[in-house]
Amino acid sequence: MQSSPSQPLAGRIALVTGASTGIGRVTARQLALQGAHVYLACRSEARTRPVIDEIQRLTGRAAAEWLELDLADSRSIRACASRFLDSGQPLHLLVNNAGLAGARGLTRDGFEMAFGVNHLGHFLLTDLLLERLKASAPARVVTVASRAHRRAPAIDWNAVRRPTRSLTGVREYAVSKLANVLFSAELARRLDGSGVSTYALHPGVVDTEVWRAVPGPLRPLLKLRGLLTPEEGARTTLHCALHAPASESGLYYARSAVTAPTDRACDFRLAAELWRRSAEWVADIGQYR
Ligand SMILES: NC(=O)c1ccc[n+]([C@@H]2O[C@H](COP(=O)([O-])OP(=O)(O)OC[C@H]3O[C@@H](n4cnc5c(N)ncnc54)[C@H](OP(=O)(O)O)[C@@H]3O)[C@@H](O)[C@H]2O)c1
Repeated sequence: MQSSPSQPLAGRIALVTGASTGIGRVTARQLALQGAHVYLACRSEARTRPVIDEIQRLTGRAAAEWLELDLADSRSIRACASRFLDSGQPLHLLVNNAGLAGARGLTRDGFEMAFGVNHLGHFLLTDLLLERLKASAPARVVTVASRAHRRAPAIDWNAVRRPTRSLTGVREYAVSKLANVLFSAELARRLDGSGVSTYALHPGVVDTEVWRAVPGPLRPLLKLRGLLTPEEGARTTLHCALHAPASESGLYYARSAVTAPTDRACDFRLAAELWRRSAEWVADIGQYR
């Protein structure tokens, strides 16, 4: 199908993780309204079905479908990637949006919950889809990070393999979001010249379900400033997906503009080490599960 000014994404295929609610839901809807066919990679079909129905109603076509994905379980991630790859479809846009804050414990693969879901799960998913992205170039990988990465002074390689320690999970969330920014930058370096560009972003402080697992009395402390609506919160993701120049690959965005992350998030040696360790971890998990 030819793209047109009102349907710039006609004929394009997108995959959005965590599209059952919040920022991901709006992102998936807007991409479909602009003509894309969108895979909603989510853990619950029951929670995703209303989004698919809404997209069908708004676009008048079967523009969205559910792909089962639990980012806390590498088996589910591998199955999700296989199902997508088996469809034979190209992949023009991967939006690594899913995320949690305040959930405590370990993933099925034995990683701290926030790090495992927010970073390592997306690392594995992206890796499994990478050849298809390259074959579909020009393509993009957009990773929804957070300005919370500013609270992470470093990555403790032992702590990411232990259950969540802090009461609120906010400290571990910050580390996972630092990992998101480092991952996106390292991915850009590795994809240089491939036609696949990458973007990490802070969506703003958005009124979504993201804090649902933080103990109730502490939640107001995390939401002191004015909250954006999910529609406003999806704007920077959509900017990166649609408008950010390929020459800005690897950079970090807030309010739809390139923004400086912390010095730590710009540390290319740390980014390379995170990549190396993540690749080893997912290879190990692949052997034992
Ligand atoms: N809201 C904010 O103020 C804010 C600020 C900075 C960054 N962010 C980031 O924005 C992104 C979207 O968050 P949101 O605010 O829209 O939160 P949300 O409303 O809680 O949505 C999060 C999405 O992630 C999914 N998810 C959680 N754990 C998952 C898992 N193990 N496997 C697969 N999917 C999983 C959820 O699925 P279920 O429906 O199954 O639970 C949901 O679809 C996150 O990466 C978050 O860190 C948000």
